[in-house]
Amino acid sequence: MPKPSTDSIHGHDYYDVETGAFRVPLYLSTIFEHPDRRTGEARKSDRGFEQKYSREENRTVRGFERVIAKLEKSQEALAFSSGMGGIAAVYLTALSSGDTVVITKESYGTTQDLALNLSKLGIKTVLAGPDTEDFIQRIKPGVVLVLVETITNPLVRVVDIPAITKRCKEVGARLVVDNTFATPLLYRPLEHGAWLSVHSVTKYIGGHNDIVGGAIAVNDPLDLTELWEFRRRLGSIMGPFEAFLALRGVATLKVRFDLQCKNALALAKYLHDHPKVEAVYYPGLKDNPYHKMADKLFLEKGLYGGVLSFKVKGGKQKAIEVLKRIRLVKPSPSLGGTESLLNYPLTSASKTISPAVRKELGIGENLLRLALGLEDIEDLQADLEQALR
Ligand SMILES: Cc1ncc(COP(=O)(O)O)c(C=O)c1O
Repeated sequence: MPKPSTDSIHGHDYYDVETGAFRVPLYLSTIFEHPDRRTGEARKSDRGFEQKYSREENRTVRGFERVIAKLEKSQEALAFSSGMGGIAAVYLTALSSGDTVVITKESYGTTQDLALNLSKLGIKTVLAGPDTEDFIQRIKPGVVLVLVETITNPLVRVVDIPAITKRCKEVGARLVVDNTFATPLLYRPLEHGAWLSVHSVTKYIGGHNDIVGGAIAVNDPLDLTELWEFRRRLGSIMGPFEAFLALRGVATLKVRFDLQCKNALALAKYLHDHPKVEAVYYPGLKDNPYHKMADKLFLEKGLYGGVLSFKVKGGKQKAIEVLKRIRLVKPSPSLGGTESLLNYPLTSASKTISPAVRKELGIGENLLRLALGLEDIEDLQADLEQALR
């Protein structure tokens, strides 16, 4: 079996016999002619779906999906116009009126926000966690869907996904793992019994802060069809141009992610010993409460993700000052791209989380989240040093 770095380059399996081209072309065409003019029957894609209209199936998008399936070691994958487009399709596929979904309290704010909004369709959302024991207690018989993140945001917790998977199996709930922060390099949820693995491709997989996209890895052909149908109905397929860029981005995932993780560990250590820093949250630090779990779960030893958070001494005012003073690092949301980004969770990913839950989680007013890019580590450290000073 090829290794992930090989699959991320060659996993699309595209080869054009006529021209010898082995890079997936950009099919911008919206429509595809029926091969049989009499019956009007559409062509079929390699996985048997009709390939007649690009809101449904598109060959450039297919190339990218094949790479995702190889990386996640899943049977299939679907690409979406955004991570949220994928998560919306998951909710609509799995949930009906009267159902209950359990979501980790520290999941991406809009993931929670969308689920909570489904109350108007009679769907109940239970926010649980953030730690494993509390999370498992809330997965009671009757729960239909459970959603966790491999690495949470902004406090970078690592929950015991195998234990959660076991509990989901006991009560017959489907487990969705948002694997965005870990990438398939650190964890492959389907290999451990999860139902689906979802990604915001906007982050590490795209990797260049120039596309918005999503992806879902799935094994069961019936689930694939149901998700595919919702993608078609919602009109949330990834655009061909985004898929073309996503293919280019994912080809370098391994080298980028390795460096981002190394940069994150180096800066976590530097901040840990910094006199102006109150606390650092990063599972790569030996004294971090999630260090052992990360070592147990993650497939690449010594890599703990490219995001860390820290609290600045002196409260909100000082944290905002750091945001104002950084130069090379950009004050911006998102993560996983070439640029290092510093972000104030209270006004971005955690904005939609209620103040009470934020307090419970420890998302304080002096918390900053740093998502590492690919710049030189000495330049990054110098920038943080001048901003903190
Ligand atoms: C963990 C996680 N999941 C899902 C999403 C949503 O992805 P997108 O912004 O591509 O819709 C985000 C966005 O920040 C995220 O951080």
